[in-house]
Amino acid sequence: MPTFVYQSFTHTDTGLVCDGVSLESIVERVDTPVYVYSARAIRDGYRAIDDAFAAHPHRIHYALKANSTLAIVRLLRSIGSAFDANSGGEIAVALCAGCTPADIVFTGVGKTRAELERAIAIGVGAINAESGGELDRIAALAASQGREARVALRDNPDIDAGSHPNISTGLKINKFGVSLEDARTIYRERRGRPGLRFVGVHVHIGSQITTVGPLQRAARALATLALELRDDGITLEHVDVGGGLGIAYEGRPIVSAADYAGAVIPEVRRTGLPLVLEPGRAVVGHAGALVARVVDTKRYPDGRRFAVLDAGMGELIRPALYGSYHQIAPVRPRPSPPAPWDIVGPICESSDVFARDRALPPLEVDDLVAILDTGAYGSVMASNYNRHLLPAEVLVDDGQWTLIRRRQTIDDVLALEL
Ligand code: LLP
Repeated sequence: MPTFVYQSFTHTDTGLVCDGVSLESIVERVDTPVYVYSARAIRDGYRAIDDAFAAHPHRIHYALKANSTLAIVRLLRSIGSAFDANSGGEIAVALCAGCTPADIVFTGVGKTRAELERAIAIGVGAINAESGGELDRIAALAASQGREARVALRDNPDIDAGSHPNISTGLKINKFGVSLEDARTIYRERRGRPGLRFVGVHVHIGSQITTVGPLQRAARALATLALELRDDGITLEHVDVGGGLGIAYEGRPIVSAADYAGAVIPEVRRTGLPLVLEPGRAVVGHAGALVARVVDTKRYPDGRRFAVLDAGMGELIRPALYGSYHQIAPVRPRPSPPAPWDIVGPICESSDVFARDRALPPLEVDDLVAILDTGAYGSVMASNYNRHLLPAEVLVDDGQWTLIRRRQTIDDVLALEL
């Protein structure tokens, strides 16, 4: 038996189920690979953070980059979420899901002129600028539209998030934001500039952060800056502490939403300003599983066993990109003792590996396996490498499942080519 399966995905007599709905029954209709999401887990993920911060005025701007499948964005909107968008595309998805521009914060290290023009024109709640130069471009664009852009500056506090280097963003070697020393000057120099209205301060030091220390220090640095700006006569409307709260991929307990709030609120309270939160992974991570089929098995003379799936780094790139760990659960585990397996994908790359030496019951061709905790940074990072087609996506809610994104076809892909 697999070591740990999260609450929404549980083993029963009919195999692995998502909130009571059999994964086999979904696969019978939509085939594999397929992402299956639990609406209940998404709501729970959102509410855990919302409840944890109840003691301080706050707004959750769910980070769309974690998962922006329209039905999921609509679901989050329906329970009151606002959004953090990282591109014109994500802004379009948020609007399509019924979000008003004022409920969008627009972050991103390389916003194009066209994206900024549109964000200013529709009047997003805040543009989190990444540099003094970007603020100047925003001011010029806004003035030319006869508008005032609501802006914050992303600050880079040089704090080690203690996460994987590829997803740490708050060190001075990272491309994100401006140093704290520069931030105050940048605000001061642009105070009163036509076209700009400073509404906040922003920080995001990384993702999959599993201890509160770095999150607390970042909040402290940001609160200190907000107070300095107040001394300079710059009145803000919020303190945006970004996202980054990690989830327990390996089953070991890590920092909870309550721990996070307990560390951040005391730091920010002294500013008297509401919080903006941008969680992504903590809202949707546990809510998704990628269900795939075993297409081949083999055993080398030294005993190494491989199970090759019909999903690989094209559907889920996290293990190949960050060496990240995901629980793997056979949908119908065979009742024999586990043995170490290498679970790999079909892509022509040696990094196309989901797990090495993972203790699993015997696997045979056509068996189904679920790769768990793939609701965040799963489908959004999928690609057509090796001309694989983007998988179908299904949402389970209240005992029913719905296809929320059909499987891509080769005609969809070729339609773009001239
Ligand atoms: N806000 C900003 C400005 C961000 O850049 C991010 C994530 C978030 C919020 C949400 O962070 P979260 O709460 O999800 O940690 N692909 C990587 C993660 C990249 C995160 C990028 N930024 C992964 O699969 O682990």
